[in-house]
Amino acid sequence: MGEELVYLDNAASSWPKPEPVVRAVERMVREVGANPGRSGHRLSVEAARAITEARCAMAGLLGASNPLRVVFTKNATEALNMAIRGLLRPGDRVVVSSMEHNSVMRPLMAERGRGVEVEVVRCSPEGRLDPDDVKRALKRRTRLVIHVHASNVSGCVTPAAEIGRIAREHGAFYCVDAAQSAGCLPIDVERMNVDLLAFTGHKSLYGPQGTGGLYVAEGVDAHLQPLMAGGTGSLSEREEQPAFMPDRYESGTPNTPGIAGLLEGVTFVASLGVDTIRRHETSLAALLMDALSEIPGVRVVGPTDRESRVAIVSIVVAGMDPGEIAYRLDEDHGVLCRPGLHCAPSAHATLATFPAGTLRFSIGYFNTEEHIHRAVSALKSIVAKGG
Ligand code: ALA
Repeated sequence: MGEELVYLDNAASSWPKPEPVVRAVERMVREVGANPGRSGHRLSVEAARAITEARCAMAGLLGASNPLRVVFTKNATEALNMAIRGLLRPGDRVVVSSMEHNSVMRPLMAERGRGVEVEVVRCSPEGRLDPDDVKRALKRRTRLVIHVHASNVSGCVTPAAEIGRIAREHGAFYCVDAAQSAGCLPIDVERMNVDLLAFTGHKSLYGPQGTGGLYVAEGVDAHLQPLMAGGTGSLSEREEQPAFMPDRYESGTPNTPGIAGLLEGVTFVASLGVDTIRRHETSLAALLMDALSEIPGVRVVGPTDRESRVAIVSIVVAGMDPGEIAYRLDEDHGVLCRPGLHCAPSAHATLATFPAGTLRFSIGYFNTEEHIHRAVSALKSIVAKGG
């Protein structure tokens, strides 16, 4: 092929990573290597320092005034499981949107099997969640409102601040799945009344895979059972799990190289500014949507206005299978994207794209106009040949 790959699968995992991320992971493995917060020697202290700095950087990006409220996990799924399983008890009621990923839906369905009532608020065919529908669903006493901040299928952004206010007024805990928004949409957990926010490190935060976390608001930990217990490097004389943050939820040796890389990813995002990243990605998404809409037989799924979206563009092509198109894009044109259901069957049902799914292009900061032109012209040629 000889041509540069066009990577448009940043919603699955962003790539490439900023050079300092790569260097930080390598340095932590090669030169530091020790267990953070355990042994007290210089290398252990240095490993712990990277984790503390990452916690501070993450808290800064999320608008959390206390970095100790940020718990590191291996991904957003683990963080969402911690939130859902840690908070809910049989007899509780949860309100959730119909646009959720299975990282929310599957733990909720497991809780339903244990006697938790789950009410799914239907979103519009564009994937929009109407705050009035959430308000109506909260007429009955509810323990938790949980929803995705930006859909991994349609890119649709949810009015989180408004829903946070409604959840607070109704005395429900409020949890946001920020897997597709942390790093590319402004977030202020305190202003948005967020009690729990799950993020992943390897998407719009440009960190390595195997990193993520859960923000836990002041006071919420008293209601949130840890999923795991074990060594924390603190209170070693006791066999009970420490009650303080973040040790209550961080048992076992962490992914120190990954978190050191995440620190550089978050530093990269913060130094550019989320608004700058958003402007760049949104303008490429608009270029892509406009060009795709002109291809006969192509329909762009989700909201048409750019402000309601992150840079995720899903399409259906009349008479063609998304998997087959993705295969041809990769094999013949070096354009990489993700077809199918994106682990979000309920979102696809909402968008009327279930069970075939969509062909999803997802844009990152390192994409260029040239990438968009190459993807569009590749798709045109595949559609023109009918496969
Ligand atoms: N949740 C990720 C995606 O949407 C993996 O592709």
